[in-house]
Amino acid sequence: MQLNQRASITGIGSYLPSKILTNYDLEKMVDTSDDWIIQRTGIKERRIVENGEITSDLATQASLRAMEDAGVSPKDIDMIITSTSTPDHIFPSTSCYIQQKIGAIKAGTCDILAACAGFIYAMSIGQSLVNSGAMKTVLVVGAECLSKIIDYTDRTTCVLFGDGAGAVIIQGSGTLHEILSSSLAADGSQADVLIVPGGGSKNPASLETIQQRMHYIQFKGKEVFKLAINNMRNLIIETAEKNGFKLSDIDLIIPHQSNLRIIEATMEKIGLPMEKVFVNIEKYGNTSSASIPIAIDEARKEGRLSEGALVMLVAFGGGLTWGSSVIRW
Ligand code: UT7
Repeated sequence: MQLNQRASITGIGSYLPSKILTNYDLEKMVDTSDDWIIQRTGIKERRIVENGEITSDLATQASLRAMEDAGVSPKDIDMIITSTSTPDHIFPSTSCYIQQKIGAIKAGTCDILAACAGFIYAMSIGQSLVNSGAMKTVLVVGAECLSKIIDYTDRTTCVLFGDGAGAVIIQGSGTLHEILSSSLAADGSQADVLIVPGGGSKNPASLETIQQRMHYIQFKGKEVFKLAINNMRNLIIETAEKNGFKLSDIDLIIPHQSNLRIIEATMEKIGLPMEKVFVNIEKYGNTSSASIPIAIDEARKEGRLSEGALVMLVAFGGGLTWGSSVIRW
């Protein structure tokens, strides 16, 4: 065991299902409009699984791409940590299915549940495992089939969410793309503002829970909206202070893609221009824990991650949970 490895992102991959659900499609399903959705959320379309595709399938494709990018073979992987709110099953973990599908026979496996902030939580654990020297190569995945827990008769939720997956490989391999720090936080007193109430030990699946549509996402949208902006603002400021840099030193913020208005209001509150934030919500909607790794992959492909750039990841979601990571690209 080699102590004090510098955990770095050595590979990135993402995968989106090919079926596109546009705002115009949703107009035919619920009382909504393309104009309303764009103005209130910034979303134009989202991806949706079909033909039996499940979370571990999306995760597997993203993982294989991240592994290829890092030049890592399945047997190199020591640990798979998947963040998801839509696992293939309640148990075993979705990471077990990913392990089987990619052939990572030496890897330990577990899932993390921290809703939309889950990828930051999972990455922070992967970072710690590598930093401590306990593991050499960790696959961290964010993958969601949110379309499976969306009520497509509820216009307040169905316009927001989409499916997708992203993955990174973390290794203690050097100075490039180093994860400098991670911060995690939560407020369990607000657990009920964003929730899937049915299907767990409190409300196990029954005819009644199904009739009451309790297996779908329910939220208090306005409350989450305000909490998201204030918490992300505070988190960005605290993260900069903790790491000893000024907000103006940040080259790119990659936020969880929940609502364009949340992102714009957060940037306004911290006094940074929209040029310093990566946004792709118009194409995919809110993909919960998949949104940040998908965005990292796209930001890199679009040339937004230059060598040495100071990058901050920031997410907020159900729990409530929130977290940030700082990466020197
Ligand atoms: O990642 C963390 C998870 N993210 C979230 O939980 C999302 C956080 N919340 C939000 O993004 C926003 O609160 C929403 C997008 C959900 C809603 O935006 P809003 O600006 O807060 O709208 P609102 O709830 O105040 O609704 C305004 C109006 C209402 O009609 P009245 O009462 O003014 O007549 C709603 O009934 O818009 C109506 N409305 C819709 N109209 C057309 C609500 N949903 C829709 C819809 N299409 N899909």
